[in-house]
Formats: sequence, structure tokens, C-alpha cells
Amino acid sequence: MNVAANIKPARGCLIANTWRPAAIGKTIPVVSPSDGKAFAEIAAGEAADVDAAVKAARAAFDGGSWSKLTATERGRLLMKLGELISANAEALAQIEARDTGKPMKQARADMVAAARYFEYYGGAADKVHGETIPFMAGYNVQTVRDPYGVTGHIIPWNYPAQMFGRTLAPALAMGNATVMKPAEEACLTPLAIADLALEAGFPEGAINVVTGLGHVAGAALSEHRGVDFLSFTGSPEVGVLIQIAAAKNHIGCTLELGGKSPQVVFEDADLEAALPVLAGAIVQNGGQTCSAGSRALIQKSVYDKVVSALAERFSQLTAASYDEDADLGALISAKQKMRVESFIGEANGPGAEIITRGKVSASAPEGGFYVAPALIGPVAETHRLAKDEVFGPVLSCIPFTDEADAIRIANDTEYGLVAGIWSRDAGRLMRVGKAMRCGQVFLNGYGAGGGIELPFGGVRKSGHGREKGFAALHEFSQLKTLVHNHG
Ligand code: NAI
Ligand code: MG
Repeated sequence: MNVAANIKPARGCLIANTWRPAAIGKTIPVVSPSDGKAFAEIAAGEAADVDAAVKAARAAFDGGSWSKLTATERGRLLMKLGELISANAEALAQIEARDTGKPMKQARADMVAAARYFEYYGGAADKVHGETIPFMAGYNVQTVRDPYGVTGHIIPWNYPAQMFGRTLAPALAMGNATVMKPAEEACLTPLAIADLALEAGFPEGAINVVTGLGHVAGAALSEHRGVDFLSFTGSPEVGVLIQIAAAKNHIGCTLELGGKSPQVVFEDADLEAALPVLAGAIVQNGGQTCSAGSRALIQKSVYDKVVSALAERFSQLTAASYDEDADLGALISAKQKMRVESFIGEANGPGAEIITRGKVSASAPEGGFYVAPALIGPVAETHRLAKDEVFGPVLSCIPFTDEADAIRIANDTEYGLVAGIWSRDAGRLMRVGKAMRCGQVFLNGYGAGGGIELPFGGVRKSGHGREKGFAALHEFSQLKTLVHNHG
């Protein structure tokens, strides 16, 4: 593997700017999804490591050199880290692709986004202003945005480098000291980027990273009384545990828990523009994207036409090793492969039938976690494939009759993260867009995970709180009102 000299292999947990093994001395093997073989090790951090990390963050926030930096100085550090990610992007992309199984082109795009998070929030750090509020005579009232203190961040395995930037950059921009628990399935780029943060000059304790199992290190972080705010991205089931832990410590949290996002195609849509996006929004990252467009809602009058074009595309899709840069790579783990295949197995008769499958390349290494993409339809509205998140390359096609029917079906899920709507009628786009119960709507387009500048988040089972854009700076800070009686 061609790794740049300043990208070093994982060397434990980062606590107070020092790499150390887990207190218990144990490690977890790192498996490459492309061949199922272990190729590295990470520290199996536990409660003691989390405790040390939270204490380091606390010291950084309470009087440490991190707390003494101005917003502009914090911003410069963030931008410097963004530059270092860009300078090391190719090496980081290689690590990411091997660790997650994703094609190199996706890993390269992820590094551009990861760097951009630090650039964007670095630039924003000193542009968050308070307000003055007219009040009684003799008073001056102003609001300021305070950081929470120590923020805890638990991220998943689907976009490790991007998630590192998405959650840490805004928290750091606002002056919080951070503790991150990346996913045990893929955390090599978060570790490598944390190492670059040392090179950038982040003061001791601003960024701490503890690797380990979710129910051990993740649980210890979410329950730690020294954490002032939590940010979690992952499954709805663990999201519940995070909320319970946050409630017990009387702190807030943001949760981003995935979705069953619709892409709605009306008969007057520009089908030529819509078709590649419809397929791309579910195939990207092997469908392992919280905002994947996993339901294609297609107006009955064009259903057959759209589905046959999609079938042609799906039949050509190929899963292969990350270095072959095919349409998709291996899924993250044997567990995820089983989960996705069990969903596909449910498409076995009326209510959900397989229209076509893509293929797994003959060159794909034995032992890798490959799944051939599946186009399924027509899927009955009540079927699991119309309701539950698969988190794999599986597109459920669902016909609808008219605008009202489209809105009803689109919103008939417990999730609500993203929606895409395709039509040439501007009024319809706006009407349907406004009726969507979710956090982000694309009109004549779809950006699965795209747009650092665009506020992003869910409703109900997709979670709550908003990331990205300036919204994230507000999530990672709280208003304080200063009331001055000047007489
Ligand atoms: P998960 O929710 O178990 O893992 C996400 C993160 O939470 C990881 O860092 C993990 O170590 C941590 N975690 C696990 N148990 C924990 C606990 N008890 N306390 C604190 N932290 C804990 O998700 P998993 O099992 O990897 O994937 C299962 C399903 O979740 C996927 O099939 C998909 O549907 C959904 N998912 C959604 C994601 C999204 O982007 N919204 C990302 C990953 C998974
Ligand atoms: Mg891995």
C-alpha cells in the first residue's frame, strides 16, 4: 500500500495528545471487507480509557491552552487540519477504501469532503455572532453562544473520515473539547486524521479518540458524567440508548439514525436527468448511506418505462474489490451482508418481486462481503421493503397515482431524513416539497450525503438535531443571555 510518510499506522487511543494502548492492553483486529482478512489492529478501549479521555478534554476546556484560543485561532487550526487532509488525501483514501471496502473513487470523494468540513467550519469559527435585545430602560441585553464544554461523538463505519469532520469540526469551531468513539468496524482514517491534528498543532485535550466496541467504549462515553453534550450517528436502536444515557445525565444530544428516503418521480419529470440519479442515490457507497434514496416512488403512467430503464442500469451494476473502482465495493461486514441478503430474500412473491440483480465481479476476492445490487418492485406499501431501512444496494419501486398519493406514501414511514422530487411543474415541486416530513428535500435532484453547507438531519426515527451548515454551530453551542442594568 502506497502510504505517505506522515500517515502512520494506528497506535492506540489519542488521549491528551499522546497515543496510548488501551488500559487493559487488548486490541481488536481490523478486517478488510474486500477479502474478509485482518490487516491491522486497533486498541480495545474501555471505560478507563474513556474516563482518561474525558478528563483530558475537561482539562483542555477548563483553563487548558485550548480554552485560551480565540475563535479566529481555533478557525486557523481547523483550516490547517483541512489542508493536511487534502495534502494526504490519496493515502487516506487508500486506508479508507481498504478499511471499509468502498471503491477508491468514493474514498477519494470522501477525503475532499472531510477536508472541506474543516475548511468550512474553520472559516465559520469567528463568524458566529450574538444579538442585542431591546429591553427596559437602563438595560443592555446581549446574547452570546457558549460552547457546552466536553462533547462526546459516536460515529458509524460508513463514512469514517467524513463523519469525523462532520461532527468534530463544528464542535471544535465553537470551542468545545471533544472525545470521539469511532466505529470498531472502520476507524483507521479517524485515527490518521487525529494524528494530522497533532501536526496541525491542536493543543492537548482538544481532540481525543478512544477506539473500542460500541457496547463497551461507546456506552462508557455516552454514560460518562463528565460529558456535556452527545452527538450520535448510527442505528435507531443504539440511538434510543444514547437518548436514555443523555437523559440520565440531563444533557442534550443530536441523533442521526438513517432513513427510508423516497425519490418521487412524476410523469412530467425529465426522465433522462432523473434515471442516473435514481440509481446513483442507492448505489453510492453500496447503499450504506443514511440518506440513501432507497424508495423509488413512480407515477403509474410512467412506472413501466422508468422501471425498465432502471432494470437495464441495475443489470449492469457490478460489485468488486475497492481497487477496481467498480460501481460498488464490498459491504462493511459479514453481519451487514447477511442483513441485506435477508431483506432481498423477502422479495419472493406478490408484494415484492425481484426485477433484476446486478453482479459480483468474478475477480472479487473470496471471503469478501459482496452483495449484487437488487431492483425490487412493485413493492406493496405495507411490505418490510417499503418500510424498513436495508442499508444496502436495494431499491424498492412503488407506484403511485397522483400528487396526494405520492405525498401520502412518501410520508408513510417512521423515518424522515431526505426526499427527492422530480417534475417539470415548479408549483408541484414546491407543494410536494413542502409536504415532505423530513429534514432535507431535493427538487429535481438528489444528494445522498452531499453538501457540507446544507443543514441536514431527520425527524422521528431518523433522529433529531441538525448537522452541517451553520445549523451545526448552533447545535454545538448554547445561548447565554447577559442582562446588564447600567442605570
Ligand atoms: P450501531 O448503531 O451499532 O453503530 C454505530 C456506532 O455506535 C458505532 O460507533 C458503535 O460502536 C456505537 N455503538 C454500538 N452500540 C453502542 C452502545 N450500546 N452505546 C454507545 N455506542 C454504541 O450500528 P451498526 O450495528 O453498525 O449498524 C446497524 C444498522 O444501523 C445498519 O444496518 C443501518 O441500518 C444503521 N446505521 C445507520 C447509520 C447512519 O448513517 N445513520 C450508520 C451505521 C448504521
Ligand atoms: Mg474494517
